[in-house]
Amino acid sequence: MTAAATRRSLPDLLAWMDRLRQRGTVHHDASQQCWQVLGHPEASTVLAEHTIFSSDVGDLAPRSAEIELFQRGNFLRIDPPEHRRLRGLASRAFTPRTVTGLAPHIADITSELLDAIGDRGRIDLIDELAYPLPVIVIAELLGLPAGDRPMFRRWADLMFDRAATNPDEPLTRLAEANIRAVTPVVRDMNAYLLEHIRRARSHPGDDLTARLVQAEIDGQRLVDEEIVGFVGLLLLAGHITTTATLGNTVLTLDQHPWAAAEVRADADLLPAVIEESLRLRTPFPRLLRRTSRAAELGGSDIPAGSMVAVWLAAANRDERVFPDPDRFDPHRSPNPHLAFGHGIHFCLGAPLARLEARIALGLLLTRYRDIQVATDAPVEQRDPWTMVSLNKLPLDVRR
Ligand code: HEM
Repeated sequence: MTAAATRRSLPDLLAWMDRLRQRGTVHHDASQQCWQVLGHPEASTVLAEHTIFSSDVGDLAPRSAEIELFQRGNFLRIDPPEHRRLRGLASRAFTPRTVTGLAPHIADITSELLDAIGDRGRIDLIDELAYPLPVIVIAELLGLPAGDRPMFRRWADLMFDRAATNPDEPLTRLAEANIRAVTPVVRDMNAYLLEHIRRARSHPGDDLTARLVQAEIDGQRLVDEEIVGFVGLLLLAGHITTTATLGNTVLTLDQHPWAAAEVRADADLLPAVIEESLRLRTPFPRLLRRTSRAAELGGSDIPAGSMVAVWLAAANRDERVFPDPDRFDPHRSPNPHLAFGHGIHFCLGAPLARLEARIALGLLLTRYRDIQVATDAPVEQRDPWTMVSLNKLPLDVRR
């Protein structure tokens, strides 16, 4: 395979995390000015103990008005009791049972995307399947025109590609740089979403945004400004990570042809292949928390008010939990990876992401009897410190 086109690759991140781990599964990092958490039990504790390890880390640096607005209903960054109320408004739309009802539609969208490829032997998996499928599904759920998806992609790309992630800089300095960089993107997104919410109020449809504008919490309707971040969170979280998972799993199968042969012979193995790929190529490598009081973790005393970086990508390779952790083994059982997080913020969209991945990869493998990563075009990836995800995955395919 041709070398990836970005500066830093997943092996760089893995080597960096290995160096961190040598300083302890929990330790203070003077350059990032935060506590680094690399072990699986310790990461699970941080994510489970939400009263001590708060998701509301927002005051890392002064926020712009645009980011302030976007964060208002973004319950990923909100603690209970507000978190429970907001998440409760969306949770019914994402239960495994509701999501299963979407399966025939997801299969239809996938088939249409594959039909559009026709008999071409060279495709880009990201542009032609991994990106459009999840964005069409989430846009439809939110009542957004799926035709606006090039704009959604630009926003997500700008947000992630502009993110400063230098691992030797203090988190506060990175946050300052990030706020400056993403504010113009967030401004456009807020304006677009506010317009969409106003339309949903005046012409209510049968989508999630329409339900949000009608919803009441303790007898009070949400105001538009609370819905912006809510819908924005679902829109972004609802596609970029699934795009990542589709690309990552196809790349993983290419690197392990025996596993591709096994899953072709036994389609029931596909869910386990996806889970193992989520473990080894964890899309969100790191989550952030802040201690609301002093805490003891893995033998370290963490003062109140400290930033805590939870490295899911490192926890998912903790040899105490995953024997021979770097080996791709779809028969690993159990596989308690943390790619979807843990605790009260556990990914709301996990059932949808899993369903989309199973349907899309199942149909892809059925449609093409031979799939190879192209050797004469670059595989492009994002900076893995931000997200373990591919921007381009050229494939040679044969029916
Ligand atoms: C939360 C990963 C797909 C919506 C999370 C968290 C992770 C995650 C790690 C926890 C964040 C934290 O604790 O700070 C993933 C991965 C996905 C995926 C790896 C794909 C493979 C989706 C999809 C949707 C979605 C398809 C929406 C339809 C959300 C939401 C939250 C969340 C709303 C916030 C939950 C809360 O704060 O209560 N996701 N996600 N995700 N995810 Fe996902």
